[in-house]
Amino acid sequence: MEISRVGVVGLGTMGSGITQVCLQAGLEVVGRDVSDELGERARARIDHYLSRGVEKERLTQDEKDAALGRFTTTTGLGDLASCGLVIEAAFEDLEVKRGLFAELDRVVSPEAVLATNTSALSVTQIAEATQQPKRVVGMHFFNPAPVLPLVEVIRTAHTSDETFDTTYAFAQRIGKEPVACNDTPGFIVNRILIPLLNDCVRVLDEARVTPEDVDRAMRFGANWPIGPCALIDLIGVDVHVHASEALHAALGEERMAPPQRLLEMRDAGQLGRKTGRGFYEYES
Ligand SMILES: NC(=O)c1ccc[n+]([C@@H]2O[C@H](COP(=O)([O-])OP(=O)(O)OC[C@H]3O[C@@H](n4cnc5c(N)ncnc54)[C@H](O)[C@@H]3O)[C@@H](O)[C@H]2O)c1
Repeated sequence: MEISRVGVVGLGTMGSGITQVCLQAGLEVVGRDVSDELGERARARIDHYLSRGVEKERLTQDEKDAALGRFTTTTGLGDLASCGLVIEAAFEDLEVKRGLFAELDRVVSPEAVLATNTSALSVTQIAEATQQPKRVVGMHFFNPAPVLPLVEVIRTAHTSDETFDTTYAFAQRIGKEPVACNDTPGFIVNRILIPLLNDCVRVLDEARVTPEDVDRAMRFGANWPIGPCALIDLIGVDVHVHASEALHAALGEERMAPPQRLLEMRDAGQLGRKTGRGFYEYES
């Protein structure tokens, strides 16, 4: 089935970024969130980033207007019925996602692919909430979705070859670099990155060094493009802690558990860039 219309469920950080990528690839997008206001907020965010692209001459004003013209928002899942692919980017909560997939399975055309952008939940458990788990796949984008090329395309034991191949080809069509993975905890990148970032944070206290020096050490000694503390600020301390807890629960390794310092930052609302304060301070 040729995909010309994409549904995106959940229009927060990831959903609006994924929407922008699809719009810029020439697709129609129907975005669903729980209120009209959240839909409008996503439109404003996408408008802002596309305007910056126009200023930097990465796209023309006409291209920007056409892209936004292909975007509609709704609060009803039924409006996604004719989409060839639906990408779910709602809260990272298994029951929320299972509920959404059960309903999507009922309302969206049976030929369509249903994809989840979960970071750390089991794609298999999400798929098993549907009557047709063969059409469910993971499509894990990275934040910010319009900037980072990787999409992990995650296959469960139920995913059909057709579903997998369609999703992989779609990721290429929207200009991404897909990699094939299986439904294992953390897939590829988070399985490696989360314990590594946790180790970097533990070094702060164990070796009594500053975030600035840990970041400088990894940038200038390991050639990382960004230091680990700055990266956690970018990801969001809450998002990182949540993913750490999920991996720890799944794999039981101590390095997966979030360090105490990150739990305290989360509880104090020091979530990184999005709150203006994390390891570093940011202007809004
Ligand atoms: N933020 C990241 O760095 C990142 C990276 C990769 C994947 N993810 C995953 O993407 C998903 C979304 O994360 P986010 O950071 O964009 O979260 P977010 O909180 O910014 O956005 C979630 C959105 O989903 C909406 N929502 C909740 N329930 C809904 C429902 N039933 N129907 C429609 N919309 C609903 C919320 O109103 C909100 O707008 C999560 O599964 C997360 O693990 C996040």
